Amino acid sequence: MEKKAKILVVDNDKSVRVTIGRFLERTDQFEVHLTGSGPETMDAVNDFQPDLALLDIIIPEMDGFEVMDRLQLLFPRLPVIFITGNDDVEYYRRAFFGGADEYITKPFDQRRIIEIINRTLYYSLAAKRLPENDHISIAAAWGRGLNFRDSTTGCHSERVAITSLFIGQEMGLADHELTKLLIAAWTHDVGRMGVSDAILLKRGRLIPSEWEEMKSHAQKSYDILKEITLPEWDGIALAAATHHENWGNGKGYPFGLQGDQIPENGCIISAADIWDALQSRRPYKEPMPADESLALMETLNGKNLRPDVVDAFFKAHEKKRIIADFSTPINLFING
Ligand SMILES: [Fe+2]
Repeated sequence: MEKKAKILVVDNDKSVRVTIGRFLERTDQFEVHLTGSGPETMDAVNDFQPDLALLDIIIPEMDGFEVMDRLQLLFPRLPVIFITGNDDVEYYRRAFFGGADEYITKPFDQRRIIEIINRTLYYSLAAKRLPENDHISIAAAWGRGLNFRDSTTGCHSERVAITSLFIGQEMGLADHELTKLLIAAWTHDVGRMGVSDAILLKRGRLIPSEWEEMKSHAQKSYDILKEITLPEWDGIALAAATHHENWGNGKGYPFGLQGDQIPENGCIISAADIWDALQSRRPYKEPMPADESLALMETLNGKNLRPDVVDAFFKAHEKKRIIADFSTPINLFING
């Protein structure tokens, strides 16, 4: 029998939590537990052992942020999705600064919520299987630390590390090469720490001068990472910084490199980064549908992206390691 993912739903409005519980159970993918307050939630979780929590923010006795903190103390890295009627930018920031994976505003679309839950579970499960060593854990801490400055992209660095690993494995990279790929992928955007809040957190499209400052993050990633002179980090600064170079025409940034001038790991992270941007919601855009984002990746083959990297990306997609369409169950991944 296939294991169902356990979803904890916390909402003070009984009709809302019952509605959410019903449509989740109707998919036959999830086991659901409903609670209406902080204390009730904390009483229930030890028995329930959730795989993911869907939290409202305004709930009795302790708010959703406190519930998230307490849950993550008990279940480290428990995926949390806020689902709330409040679109306040401060709430949005607090959610991501506190370690939330997603933030959905009511009124909500049931199909979309299921896709978001599936996507969050997929990355959570994949993250648990990432190779670990001292250097990868330091890089992961840098990547997670970035969430304290950049609340618009959620767990972007982690997702890029996961997708990069799957591409690298298809390309036949050896373990020590995959370790370097993971370190560079986790840290590729650390330079965003050097971009001002006004630009980093802007809701809406950037004007050209703001875009220039945003682009400076790649050079800043290089400037930060080149300070690390440990042998295990040799080449990491260049690989991380080149994730916005353009393989085909050399018109990317920060260095304007082209083709084989760009390190292989930079080319892999570039593909994973573009993929994550297409699939993610940003303050100014909704995620691109699965078929359109796959078609776009193919279009970029040999242009922005290195051909053997794109080939490996599609091989990993065929094997259901990289997933585009989250409307279908991910039970294979849960059990596998
Ligand atoms: Fe970037």
